[in-house]
Amino acid sequence: MAIREKGAEPGSHIGVHWKEEDYYEPRPSFTAQANLTDESVFERFSLENFPHYFEEYARLLDWFKHWEKTFDDSNPPFWRWFVGGELNVSYNCLDRHLKDRRSQTALYFVPEPEDEPIVKYTYYELWRRVNEVAALLRDFAGLKKGDRVTIHMPMMAELPITMLACTRLGVIHNVVFGGFTGKAAADRSMDAGSRLLITADGYYRNGKWLDHKAKADETVKICEEHGLHLEKVLIWQRYPGKYSSDTPLVEGRDYIINDLLPRYRHQVVEPVRVKSEEPMFLMYTSGSTGKPKGVQHSTGGYLSYVTAMAKYYLDIHPEDVYFCMADIGWITGHSFIVYGPLSVGGTTIVYEGVPTYPDAGRPWRIAEELGVTIFHTSPTALRSLRKAGPEEPLKYQHQFKLMVTVGEPIEPDVWRWYYHVVGKEKAVIVDTWWQTETGGFLIVQAPALQKMKPGSAGPGVMGIHPVILDEEGNEIPPGSGKAGYLCIRNPWPGAMQTLWGDPDRYVRGYYAKFNKNPQSKDWRDWPYMSGDSAMQAEDGYFRILGRIDDVITVSGHRLGTKEIENAALTVPQVAEAAIVAAPDEIKGSVPHLYVVLHPGYEPTPELAQLIRETVAREISPIARPDKVFMVPDLPKTRSGKIMRRILAAISRGDKDLGDVTTLANPEVVGEIQAHVQKSLR
Ligand code: WT7
Repeated sequence: MAIREKGAEPGSHIGVHWKEEDYYEPRPSFTAQANLTDESVFERFSLENFPHYFEEYARLLDWFKHWEKTFDDSNPPFWRWFVGGELNVSYNCLDRHLKDRRSQTALYFVPEPEDEPIVKYTYYELWRRVNEVAALLRDFAGLKKGDRVTIHMPMMAELPITMLACTRLGVIHNVVFGGFTGKAAADRSMDAGSRLLITADGYYRNGKWLDHKAKADETVKICEEHGLHLEKVLIWQRYPGKYSSDTPLVEGRDYIINDLLPRYRHQVVEPVRVKSEEPMFLMYTSGSTGKPKGVQHSTGGYLSYVTAMAKYYLDIHPEDVYFCMADIGWITGHSFIVYGPLSVGGTTIVYEGVPTYPDAGRPWRIAEELGVTIFHTSPTALRSLRKAGPEEPLKYQHQFKLMVTVGEPIEPDVWRWYYHVVGKEKAVIVDTWWQTETGGFLIVQAPALQKMKPGSAGPGVMGIHPVILDEEGNEIPPGSGKAGYLCIRNPWPGAMQTLWGDPDRYVRGYYAKFNKNPQSKDWRDWPYMSGDSAMQAEDGYFRILGRIDDVITVSGHRLGTKEIENAALTVPQVAEAAIVAAPDEIKGSVPHLYVVLHPGYEPTPELAQLIRETVAREISPIARPDKVFMVPDLPKTRSGKIMRRILAAISRGDKDLGDVTTLANPEVVGEIQAHVQKSLR
C-alpha cells in the first residue's frame, strides 16, 4: 500500500484504495438514437486542432453577426471566444424554435403540493411571457444592456422567464439561490452593483409555506446601510392575482409584476444584439475564504458550450422530456435546466419542491406522468431517495433513456442502485464532472461511444484535454495510481471570463499555480487548475477524489475523505457517511466517522465495530475510525455537499460552529452535537 509520509505532494497517495470497477455498455437502443455517434469526433477534437474545433459548438447557435476570430489569447488568461460575433440568448432559446416547435411544450412547472395542477408552457407561450417581462424590465424598470439585476427567487416558472427576459435585453442577471438569506442576496447585490431586486412572495418547500418576500426587505435594508440603493423590488406572485406574503408592500419601491404585466400584453421586444464576449450572467460561488466569488460567464462562448453539452452529452432531442432536480439558483440549473435544454429545443421541468416530498416516490411519479426520458440529479439526492424508498422506483412505469449525476463523486454502490433500480438497467448513466467556473461539463463519457464505469466520471469531453499535475507541475501519467491536481490543458468557450471586480483573484486562484511564465502569451503555458484532486486510470478515465483540501491527516498520513466514506458505505446498514479528523493527544488526530443508517436498523455497539473493522480492512488500520457516531442526518448544503467542517467542529468540541444558516437542514446540527457530547463524556 502506497501511503506516504507527510510532506509528499498533496493528494499524491490518496485514492490508491479504490478498486477498479467493471464497465457497463450502453444499450443498442440508446446508441441507435443518440446525437453523438461519430467515432471520429475525438480525432477531430484533438489538441492539434485547437481552437478551431470549437467552431462546431458555435455553429449550433444562430448568430446575428458571424464572429471574426474564433479565439483571442492576446491577454492570458483572459480568453475571448468568437470575437466579433453578435447574438441574443433568448432568441436562441425561444424565437428560433417558433417555426418548428411553436406548440411543443417548452417548460412544465410542477408545484410541490401534489394536488396543484402542473402548469405547461409551449414555446410560443414562453416566448410571449418573456417578451412581456422584457418590455416591463425595459420600460418600467429602465434596464438596459450591461446593467446588473439580482434575482432572488425560488423554483417557479417565472424564474427562467425572468432570466430569459434579462438576456433578451443583454441585462446581466445575478441569480441568488432562493434558500439563501436576505443577507446573502445583499452581499451579492453589493458586489455586483445590482440596480434592482426581483423576488417572489413565497413558495412551498418540504410541505411548508415559506414567506420569501420577507427576505427582500432584509436585502434592501442591508444594501441601504452599505450605500447601495436598490431602485425597485419587483415581486412575482406564487399564486397569480393573490399576494401571499405577510410583509407589507413598500410604497414607491415594491411592485407586483403580475399586476404590471397586463400593460405589456402582446408587446414584442426586439432581441438586443449582444457581443459574444459581453457578460451574460454572474453566479456567486463560495471560496475557501469568506467572500463569495462572482463567476462571470460570457454570452457567445457560454451558450455555445452549454448547447453542445445538452445536445451531445445529455442527448436532448426536441421530443425528449428532461427533468433536472437541481435548483436554478446553482450553475447546474442555469446551464442544464434553462439554457442548454431550451437552446436545443427540448422540454424542461421546473420542480418546486424537495425530491422526497411527500414521499420517496415523488420523482418517479413526476417522471411517469410527464413521460420523462432524461433524469438529472446528484449523489446526495440519490442516497436520500434510496434510504427512504429503495424499492420505490420499481412501482412506477417511468423509463429513462439517460440519467445524470453531478456534484460529488458517486459511490459505486449508489451508482449500481441508480443503474439497476432507477434506470431498470435500460438507461445510460453519465457522471458529469464540472464546476460553477467551467460553465458546462469537462469530464464525462460520451454516452453512446464510451463505456460507463461506476465511480469514474470518464475521459475529457470532446475538445477538453484534462491532465493531472503534481506539486511541481509535472504530469502524472495515466495508470500510475497516483493522485494530483486535476487541471485542463486548454481553454474552452464555457469557461468563466473572470471574477467580477476581482481579476487578480481569478488569475491567482485558477491559473497562477502552474504558470511558469506570467509574460507568456501562449495558452499552453496557462493550464486551468480546478482545485480538485483526481487520479487517472490506465484507460484514461478520471476518478475525482474531491477538493484538494478534502483530506484528513492521521498520524502523519494523509487520507482522502471520500475513499474512507466509500468503504463505510460497503456496510449494508450504512446509508450515508462522513469522516473528519478529531484532535488526539497521542496521535495528533484520529478519524471520527459519522454515519446515517438505512431505516429499520438500530445503532448498536456491534454495528459500530463492524463499520470500524470494514474501514480498517478496506483502507488501512490507520484509517480505522476512533469513534463511529450514528446520527439521524448529516449537515448538508442546499446543493447537497456534506459539511464536514461542521462535523469536525463538533468533534473538536467547539462551542461556536460558525455559520450554519446556509445549510439545507440546520436543525440536525444541535441534535448531532448533543449526541456526540454525550458519547464523548
Ligand atoms: C465541485 C464544483 C458543477 C455543478 C455542481 C457543483 C465537485 C462536481 C462532480 C462529479 C465528483 C464533482 C468537484 C467540483 N463535483 N461534479 N461528477 N464527481 N465531484 O458545482 O458548486 O461549483 O462545485 O463539485 O469537487 O470542484 P460547484
